[in-house]
Amino acid sequence: MINLREALRNIKSIRGGMLRLVLIAGAAALFLITRMGILDPRPAPRESLTDKELRVTLGAMALADISSPPANSRDQRLAAFGKKLFFDTRLSSNGQVACATCHIPEKSFTDGLPTGRGVGITNRNTPTIINSGLGHWFFWDGRADSLAAQALGPLENPNEHGLTRISLAVAIEKFHGASYGALFGEAAVGQPNIDGFTPQKPNTNTNVMAGYTLASIGPYKRLTSLLKLASNQSIQPSALVAQALQPEQRILHPESATIVVANAALAIAAWEKFQIANQSPFDGFMKKVRANPDRPLAELADGTALAGLRIFTGKGNCVLCHRGASLSDQQFHNIGLGDTARLEELPVKAWLADVVGRTKGQIEVLASEFNCRAGILEKAGPAAAAAARIHSESCREQEFADPDNLETVGAFKTPTLRNIAVTGPYFHDGRAASLDDVLDHYDHLKTTPAIGHREESLRPLNLSAQEKSDLKAFLESLTSPVRDLSEN
Ligand code: HEC
Ligand code: HEC
Repeated sequence: MINLREALRNIKSIRGGMLRLVLIAGAAALFLITRMGILDPRPAPRESLTDKELRVTLGAMALADISSPPANSRDQRLAAFGKKLFFDTRLSSNGQVACATCHIPEKSFTDGLPTGRGVGITNRNTPTIINSGLGHWFFWDGRADSLAAQALGPLENPNEHGLTRISLAVAIEKFHGASYGALFGEAAVGQPNIDGFTPQKPNTNTNVMAGYTLASIGPYKRLTSLLKLASNQSIQPSALVAQALQPEQRILHPESATIVVANAALAIAAWEKFQIANQSPFDGFMKKVRANPDRPLAELADGTALAGLRIFTGKGNCVLCHRGASLSDQQFHNIGLGDTARLEELPVKAWLADVVGRTKGQIEVLASEFNCRAGILEKAGPAAAAAARIHSESCREQEFADPDNLETVGAFKTPTLRNIAVTGPYFHDGRAASLDDVLDHYDHLKTTPAIGHREESLRPLNLSAQEKSDLKAFLESLTSPVRDLSEN
């Protein structure tokens, strides 16, 4: 018979053993979680997709066919007028800067510089305008919600064309009066009534977001200089942030001048939409894939680019953001780019305005007099185009714009990757000289984000040299000649 004491001892030792087991298991789990990344709740990207899955992904990357406008149609004449404006250096304060000064056709509409140079130097890398009809948001921070609204930015930017609203309207009148009159005449002013659309007052309240943005300013050094500056000026730190996020001051202009420049912007946008790059080796590959639904992909592709595509859609998980026909989700992400020598030198308010990205972009787009809700471009242009803008994705998303959302701090627009091999330097401030530098960033994620938090979905990839060169070969397979389809 087992006496009570013995029974208790047995139970204790069993419990002790279990406790030890639990402790060991706990320690092992902790080790796995912290050291090996196992048990990470985020789903791991798949190493590689099956041919069937890849075909579905590829289906979404195909560019729809764009046809030229019929000769002498209004669309065609509008685009032809837009083209003239795009290349006209007379539309600038020093007579030397056209859109094409920075968006050079031979460079796939970029300039090869880290940051654009017009009348002055900008702080942003010049993006390409190819396939821009696919875009929803424009500029790196998405502060324009349509291609036409975008065009007015550089014309009135002191560092780009350096014109004022009035001087621009006067120059269009003076150099392009005949073309303008033939297209727009008098009747175009103040036209369409779009059912169910009410123009809205711009929203310029930056106070709420300021508090949130402040909370996500990363580097201690910046936070202390911000606090010091606020205390010197005897204001709340959040008020200082609100100042840095304030949308650009607007001067009120006579409506007639505004309508002239709005029409000019619509013409430029009409031309830009026909600058198409859809003849890359990758487009050729996608065509073959569609034409041969039953053949293995390996038989249809160049080996290295296909291996790279598999990394792009699998292990690298690039397709999470670089997806769809332009290889951009048209959304904004903080990919964790750190401070640079240029940023180091900026005073704290200028630094904040420079790095905050989409937070300020949202404030600007809501305050813009050319946003889809304000109705100026809609009033100026033909009714069909106006309706399209009002029903566009960026117009609908704008209703739910939320600059308080911390995820927008330090986020920039996912750029297109079409023609990427010929549009360097890279990133919003041109900090990466080559594609290798870009791939190194994604591979190691070494930098601490200049502000805010790096998007959770990104993690170091630890690519082999072979994988990196395959991925680069895939990016290089996206290069296509650019055709101006507005001229047939
Ligand atoms: C001084 C050089 C310069 C000039 C001149 C210039 N741009 Fe740009 N362009 C840029 C830079 C830099 C950006 C990015 C700016 C930003 O995001 O803050 C840009 C952005 C754009 C974009 C947005 C692309 C995207 O993917 O978001 C379009 C479209 C564009 N420019 C068209 C034009 C047009 C049209 C003109 C003439 C009316 C023009 N640009 C004049 C440098 C220039
Ligand atoms: C979380 C979304 C996301 C993922 C995932 C992602 N990117 Fe990006 N990518 C972006 C954003 C946003 C930018 C612009 C960042 C900036 O300049 O601040 C960018 C910029 C780039 C650029 C520079 C483009 C230019 O014109 O300057 C390249 C090239 C690029 N990404 C390739 C890749 C590759 C290759 C992968 C996979 C290894 C990848 N990206 C994964 C969002 C993403």
